[in-house]
Amino acid sequence: EAVEKGSVKWQSPSNIALVKYWGKKPEQIPANPSVSFTLSNCKTITRVDFIKKKTRDKFEFEVFFEGEKKDDFKPKISTFFKRIESYCPFLKEYSFKIYSENTFPHSSGIASSASGMSALALCIMSIEKQLNPSLSAEFFKKKASFLSRLGSGSACRSIEGELVVWGEHEEIKGSSELFGVSYPDEVHENFRNYQDTILLVDKGKKEVSSSVGHDLMHGHPFAEARFKQAGANLANLIPVFAEGNLEKFMEIVENEALSLHAMMMSSRPYFILMKPNTLEIINKIWKFRRQSQLPVCFTLDAGANVHVLYPEKNKTEIFEFIKNELVASCENGQYICDQLGSGAKEI
Ligand code: PMV
Repeated sequence: EAVEKGSVKWQSPSNIALVKYWGKKPEQIPANPSVSFTLSNCKTITRVDFIKKKTRDKFEFEVFFEGEKKDDFKPKISTFFKRIESYCPFLKEYSFKIYSENTFPHSSGIASSASGMSALALCIMSIEKQLNPSLSAEFFKKKASFLSRLGSGSACRSIEGELVVWGEHEEIKGSSELFGVSYPDEVHENFRNYQDTILLVDKGKKEVSSSVGHDLMHGHPFAEARFKQAGANLANLIPVFAEGNLEKFMEIVENEALSLHAMMMSSRPYFILMKPNTLEIINKIWKFRRQSQLPVCFTLDAGANVHVLYPEKNKTEIFEFIKNELVASCENGQYICDQLGSGAKEI
């Protein structure tokens, strides 16, 4: 099809890993499989305007973030375009204007790479679809996830909901290291609308980026054991998802969060991304759980913020506890209420 110009727009959510991806091989191939909850409220909304240009010798694009021209975002997007060029040969035939915004507060310490990269990858797929209208919906999603992975590994888990697996696992059919797939097996109603209250402990930029962290897994003394542990934790989650065993769920999820940070603390060079208030919150969650017997647990990504996870049916009591006891440990009292979501949408 000859397409002169057009405009496409997507919203894509963030996701939080239950089993963590930490360590990779070349081409953004994960060292171990991971599984995540797709979120609902933390999203990036991206519009791409495109127009055919005369020459096709280089990439041409401008980036605007929340209304402002952002030249400092260009290197990351150039790298992304280079990585995906061979899969999307039309990229050099158009000039692009990329307009992006997040629904969560700017510089909240919430990584926007998963939602941002997946939203951009989806826009690129919508352009490909205009050029080739016969693309199937299934191919569209798979390739969108494949391209997202090349932008930021965890971004490939943001296309679909509600539980997404990325990385090959023998017990999960269809799983692939090239793209994320919706968790194919039974999920118990205990996980319906599962809640994630994100406590913003430290809104500053991370001292160590996740790409540096992934690299430090090369030659890490515990790497092999860690990759095996992730596979085993994922295998053990399969019956947990089916039966709704929240005790086991919480044990696996917290083990994963602490193992991720243990890898950081035991790499060379070593580093710590948790803050005193991260530990304060974890201890308060454990104490409250012991006393109340309510199913509340935490997970962490590569930062100081704490994701507090709990079933919708216990929302009232657990949210009361969060407000009364945990929010005081957040920077400026800030937190975000989120829950399981169904994935990206074209708008
Ligand atoms: O997608 P990246 O390269 O930013 O790595 C993400 C790593 C963690 O968030 C710590 C874990 C995960 O699986 O999302």
